[in-house]
Formats: sequence, C-alpha cells, structure tokens
Amino acid sequence: MASKFIDSHAHLDDQRFDKDRDEVIRSLYENEVEAVLNPGSDLNSSKEALAMAEKYPFIYAAVGCHPHDSRYMSDDHLNIFKEMAKNKKVIGIGEIGLDYYYDNSDRDIQRKWFREQIRLAKELDLPYIVHDRDAHEDVLRIMKEEHYDGAGGILHCYSGSVELSREFIRLGFYISLGGPVTFKNARVPKLVAGEVPFDKLLIETDSPYLTPEPYRGKRNEPKYVKYVAEEIAKIRNVSIDELAEKTKENFKRLFRL
Ligand code: NI
Repeated sequence: MASKFIDSHAHLDDQRFDKDRDEVIRSLYENEVEAVLNPGSDLNSSKEALAMAEKYPFIYAAVGCHPHDSRYMSDDHLNIFKEMAKNKKVIGIGEIGLDYYYDNSDRDIQRKWFREQIRLAKELDLPYIVHDRDAHEDVLRIMKEEHYDGAGGILHCYSGSVELSREFIRLGFYISLGGPVTFKNARVPKLVAGEVPFDKLLIETDSPYLTPEPYRGKRNEPKYVKYVAEEIAKIRNVSIDELAEKTKENFKRLFRL
C-alpha cells in the first residue's frame, strides 16, 4: 500500500477553490493526501479555515494574519484569534511573518503584528507558521527576540539558505518545502532539501500558489504534494514511502496530534 502525504500548508479557503472546493477536499484521500493544514491569511480566511476543519476531520486550521494583510489587523482581530484557538481543530497560529517583496503593508506594521502574533502563540502554547519573503534578517531577529522554549513552528515554503535554515532549526523550528524545489533552476531549495535534518523536514503545496512541476502555471492543489515529495526523495536518495512517513511523523510531533 502506498503511503499517503500530509500537506502542511494549503489555502483551500482561497476563492480559486470556490467552484469545486468540496470536490477537491473529498477527493484528497484517493489522491494520496491524508491531512491538510489550512492557515488563515486574515480574519475572514481564518474563519473559513476553521469552518472547513470543523466539517472535515482530516483538515486542520491555523488562525492568523498574513503580512500582506497586516494593515487591516487590529487588537480586536487578535482577541478573536485567541477565542478561535480554543477550538481543538485550530492547531497553530499563522500564517504570520514578513514580506518585503510585495510590501503590501507598511514594514513597521508587518513587524508589529508579526511580533504580537508570536506572543499570542506563546500565550496559547501553539506552534506558529512563518511566511518569510525577502525578509530573512528581520524574521530571524524578531523570532530570536521573542524566542521562548515552547511549541516551535514552521518556516513555510522556505526560501533561504542552508546556513539560515540551521538558525531556525536551532530555535526549534521545522523547514517546509513546496513547489519551488521542483523547479529546474531552484539551486538553493534543492540544496536545502538535501541538508535539512530528516526529523525537521515538512512538505507542502501552498495551494493554490507555487504549483510544482509538471503542473507549474496551473492552479495548485494538495494532491500535487507528491511531486514535491518525489523531488526531495530523489535528492535525499530515500524512497518516496520513507519520505511520506517521515514528514507525517514530523508533522504529528510538531502539532502533538
Ligand atoms: Ni501560505
């Protein structure tokens, strides 16, 4: 029997799934996906993530505000996230972080809410899920300043160097790789895929974005996580089953499932 995968990061609440969301979710298992973590990107999408998680046992939610939307973030939203996190299907805070590539929100605002949401994760003793685009230095600095020995979390769709990944791992974090590892010119993600300690590695799709080869350009779906897994298994010279099992085990350890 072939192993099934856990997709550690997908946005099934995204409007690109409005037409066929339930169909996509119901067919996950036959497509070798055992579970999906759906992080929120703002208050509404966090609510939608939780609604899906309550409807389907194999969907888990994280609640939080993405750096793109941090300009809309407020203390009220933070308090609502805190309330929502009492629900058992909310297993993390995210996705949170910094995005200096798009700069959709002012950097000061991004940093403020990244910090505040790390503090929320700490208060709730939940792992947090980090989005870091072109902001490696500030992400690491803030995580170090707010560091505590606790639940840890994930650097999602990790795009930094091998050296930097070691710093995050030292803080108790897991490194999750997605579609870019399958791209031909993705030299650094492929290096990272080979170097991350096996017990710190996770796989994801970031659906509907970052679709792996051979479907690059199309809408991404959790079922394509196997192409991410295949590429990493090849790089690490392990079987796809071993990679599936190990990344599942890692996911369950991190989220205490
Ligand atoms: Ni995401």
